[in-house]
Amino acid sequence: MAGSMRDWIEKWDGLGVVVHYDAPSEAWFYVALHDDTLGPPTGGCRMKLYAHPDDGLVDALRLARGMTYKWAGIDLPFGGGKSVIALSRPLRGEERVETLLRFGGLLQSLRGAYWTGEDLGTTPEDMATIARATRYVHGVKKPGEPAVDPGPYTARGVLAGIRGAAEHFLGKENLAGVSVLIQGVGHVGEPLARSLAESGARLILSDLDSERARGLAAELGAEVVGAEAIDTPCDVFAPCAVGGVLNAETIPRLQCRIVAGSANNQLREDGDANRLRDRGILYVPDYVVNAGGAIGLALLGRKRSDAEIEERIDGIREAILAILEESAERGEAPVKAADRRAERNLERKAAALAE
Ligand code: PHE
Repeated sequence: MAGSMRDWIEKWDGLGVVVHYDAPSEAWFYVALHDDTLGPPTGGCRMKLYAHPDDGLVDALRLARGMTYKWAGIDLPFGGGKSVIALSRPLRGEERVETLLRFGGLLQSLRGAYWTGEDLGTTPEDMATIARATRYVHGVKKPGEPAVDPGPYTARGVLAGIRGAAEHFLGKENLAGVSVLIQGVGHVGEPLARSLAESGARLILSDLDSERARGLAAELGAEVVGAEAIDTPCDVFAPCAVGGVLNAETIPRLQCRIVAGSANNQLREDGDANRLRDRGILYVPDYVVNAGGAIGLALLGRKRSDAEIEERIDGIREAILAILEESAERGEAPVKAADRRAERNLERKAAALAE
């Protein structure tokens, strides 16, 4: 893989990357700063085992770019950034805490050039730990307390997005009887399953941890399928775990009408949006439908009320309807219309700054 880290950075259109090797834990820290037009680069911290640390860098670069579009799409004054702690072995207990404190120290040294928060592989407790070393963390109200979990906010937004998509594409006023396959019932997938069950949707759950899927399914009266069973017939497929699940190999196997879920970077490559459109499947752009967590954390930081936060998150439904209508009129994949909308906001702000 020699030289590949350099190749990825050369191809990337962001501001810069901070790279640090944490010798005691043998982990790599990457802080990717993509864009600061709208505000300070802000996005979650992903902590994961990678076969090769460079894979963590690639994740950070792609996810940071996604955050630029996410913030621009919802018109909040933050820029695109993301961090990855690329592990070569699992970290637990005191070693995990010490590593997170050193990561927090790195963020503190950046003096607000990047703000972090929870993401895949990190928990509210991890954020509280990081907050002992730096103030640049979202979701921590008081030092020493566990951070707010953005999962339920994200889930609320995904629900709003599924409603919008079902209305536009299936002509459904409500979700009664609509079947939804949720891939991954963790911090987002679980609260999403609960609210969908309340809305009368028919649920099919899957998780790498099959015990977890079975337990929740028993409680909610849902069906369970294996974690790879993306070819299960359903109205809506909601990927709520890792990215890259929509690709040349999986798209031909899908048996759904709509894809709308919380995972970041669901498309493996840009061309996958057209592959989905060509199969007649409506793909709701991930960064729009999963923006609820970002909205929740950002507005909590600005001391807004729960009612205001919820209203703003529920607005994802209208945003998605507008995107779907625009893309249907133009006969393009919805992600095109979503990108255009985000780029419009970025250009408007860049022009105002240049004056
Ligand atoms: N990780 C979540 C996301 O990708 C939530 C988050 C948003 C965390 C903003 C930190 C900052 O949207």
